[in-house]
Amino acid sequence: MKKTVEFIQSMKRASQKIAMLTAYDCPTARVLNDAELDVILVGDSLGMVVLGFEDTRSVTMADMLHHTRAVARGNTECLIVSDLPFGAYESPSEAVGNARLLRGAGADAVKPEGKKLESIKAIIADGIPVMGHVGLLPQTSDSFRVHGRKPSEAAQILSDAKALEAAGCFAIVLEGIPARLAKEITAASRIPTIGIGAGAACDGQVLVLHDLMGFFDQFNPTFAKKYAELGQDLKRAVTHYRSEVKQGLFPDKEHTYH
Ligand code: KIV
Repeated sequence: MKKTVEFIQSMKRASQKIAMLTAYDCPTARVLNDAELDVILVGDSLGMVVLGFEDTRSVTMADMLHHTRAVARGNTECLIVSDLPFGAYESPSEAVGNARLLRGAGADAVKPEGKKLESIKAIIADGIPVMGHVGLLPQTSDSFRVHGRKPSEAAQILSDAKALEAAGCFAIVLEGIPARLAKEITAASRIPTIGIGAGAACDGQVLVLHDLMGFFDQFNPTFAKKYAELGQDLKRAVTHYRSEVKQGLFPDKEHTYH
């Protein structure tokens, strides 16, 4: 059965951890769906891990719609959350228009970064669930450093998380903050927290799929555990193929129509 926002919220009350990963295309969405993930995030991280940009700021609404549609085609059970890209939620009307487009493309909910409260409230009032995002905000941050180590910064992140919950967000991503702060926010929130580089106390975890797959080497943060080495495996396979083509070993009889 397709997971809903209400189901994801009930997982916090039942102390069940929420497993979320990014996906950007149909075949990987199928894998996540079949592996019974709870949430698929069509993240604007696609700008870095798929489109080859240096950051997420170049990702457009057209990109997000294209990739959300592809993910939706491969998914039946997971809740799909799509990122609102940089510049797409400056005003409430723009935010609502773009959130509607993402919904039309197959997203169940949208995720803007930070505390654009008027835009967030307008999207929720329009009936579209919003996942908040505090801590390190890649769309606007000057670096990928851990946020919230200074007491003043920690207090600001806690207060932002509370403001997002009060605005009606159904869940909130905590990115790149000390585990102690994530634990405090998780205990203070009625909505689920989903951590990335925020320690084990969060109600759920999210990773960028290409980090998990070992398929993105440009940036290796401490929290990004590699569960596979697909980059190396693929290079080995491609090198093997090249060598067989050059030697006339491929195609052999088995891979030829007779
Ligand atoms: O774009 C993305 O992948 C994200 C995660 C890092 C949470 O927003």
